[in-house]
Amino acid sequence: MKILITGGNGMLGRTLQESFKDDEVIVADLPECDITDRSRIAAFFAEADPDVVIHAAAMTNVDGCEANSELAYKINEEGTRNVAIVSAAMNARLIAISTDYVFSGELDEGRESWSEEDTPRPRTVYGASKFAGEEMIRALYPEAVVLRVAWLYGAGGPSFVHTMVKLLSSEGEAVKVVNDQFGNPTSAKAVADVIKFILSKPSVEGTVHATCEGVASWYDLAGELKKLMPSLKRELVPCTTAEFPRPAPRPANSALEKRVLKLLGYTMSNWREALADFVLTEFKSN
Ligand SMILES: NC(=O)c1ccc[n+]([C@@H]2O[C@H](COP(=O)([O-])OP(=O)(O)OC[C@H]3O[C@@H](n4cnc5c(N)ncnc54)[C@H](OP(=O)(O)O)[C@@H]3O)[C@@H](O)[C@H]2O)c1
Repeated sequence: MKILITGGNGMLGRTLQESFKDDEVIVADLPECDITDRSRIAAFFAEADPDVVIHAAAMTNVDGCEANSELAYKINEEGTRNVAIVSAAMNARLIAISTDYVFSGELDEGRESWSEEDTPRPRTVYGASKFAGEEMIRALYPEAVVLRVAWLYGAGGPSFVHTMVKLLSSEGEAVKVVNDQFGNPTSAKAVADVIKFILSKPSVEGTVHATCEGVASWYDLAGELKKLMPSLKRELVPCTTAEFPRPAPRPANSALEKRVLKLLGYTMSNWREALADFVLTEFKSN
């Protein structure tokens, strides 16, 4: 298979490169392939002639998107539109990566997670621009897969996991971590594995949720890291979102239900197991 990865040098993209190393991988990233430049991207894709496009390029700095919404929409909506148009024209199978942040985080009473059928109501520019990108894919290439992932960490980072390992291995007062935002911590490797599974099923299209199983707060995730890495000696204390104001409001609960994957008989790994596997290779020296 010839697989083209937009944003292939980013955190997820690098894990995808590693996971698909037995296939022919073409990296489409800045500066050679700017997804906002329609003619450039068309020429790049035509030369690469991929069977599969994994669209991982995005403006991912959530607070940065809030500060520069024009650029966020240019990359996450218009760039995604360009990827959809050229992929459809070449008949390349498209898997476009999206996010749990398309949801508001305010679940109706009695609900624990968001399913593929729930209506997104993003509260941030990042979430809204990613949702606008999803809508471009649905309109221009309905056979594509929109794969929603969340709370990612992967080799080399940057991620919350990398930040915590650095903080907790240094000296100082207890580290305050938010304990009232919930989601599904997910390894880039688990995302690469589910993409392989989807590629083995030609009939899968539409929106698919693909996060690790189990729900955690950021504090739970940091606590699990401390359990896995006894060398992380610094204390942790839980705090509230209100104590940690950010320019872009984070969803209180963005856990995703994997309805489509369950119907297909595929189970994502549990977040604690995926994290333990990751820590073994990523932080060997700790
Ligand atoms: N990280 C998470 O927790 C998370 C959670 C949910 C969903 N996602 C989604 O997962 C995907 C991959 O995220 P990631 O964590 O791997 O992000 P990342 O590390 O920021 O990777 C994104 C890549 O896209 C590149 N890029 C930015 N603008 C571009 C453009 N105009 N043309 C071509 N490439 C461009 C970036 O280059 P520069 O670095 O030079 O800007 C970077 O290499 C994204 O779609 C993101 O929205 C991530």
